[in-house]
Amino acid sequence: MVHNTKLIHFEIHGGAYGNLIAIESGKGIPFEIARVYYIFGVENKVRRGFHSHINLYQILICVSGNVKIEISNPFEKEIVELNHPSEGLLIGPFVWREMFDFSDNSVLLVLANEHFCEEDYIRDYEVYRDLAKEYFERLEI
Ligand code: TYD
Repeated sequence: MVHNTKLIHFEIHGGAYGNLIAIESGKGIPFEIARVYYIFGVENKVRRGFHSHINLYQILICVSGNVKIEISNPFEKEIVELNHPSEGLLIGPFVWREMFDFSDNSVLLVLANEHFCEEDYIRDYEVYRDLAKEYFERLEI
């Protein structure tokens, strides 16, 4: 997968009465949860995201419906489809992300390890490309 990303599977407690997934801070996920937000009511034609973070780690879970996430850096690109509440996509620093193909009534739940901080965003792709090249060249990918 693209560097600083990972798929995480969440255990389903299921039965004849339906399913339940529990996520506990720092257990089965690599961080303490500081913030939860969810994206919903996105029309199918809309593409959103278009940014990277400098420090933030997030886990994206499509708890209803499905959505595609394009994750990339200047050297790698991949499209991940999230279509089940038991699949989470971990995205760390310096990963450019774009979300698209939201299905009707989809809900994208996001767990983050920091409170909201606009200063942690890189929204200009040219700026991102230069910073990410430096960052990933240091990692020697
Ligand atoms: P943004 O992260 O730009 O959304 P996306 O990447 O999905 O296109 O956030 C959209 C708006 O919501 C922006 O004005 C910032 C605000 N926002 C918060 O106030 N708190 C949050 O935790 C998040 C994620 C966004």
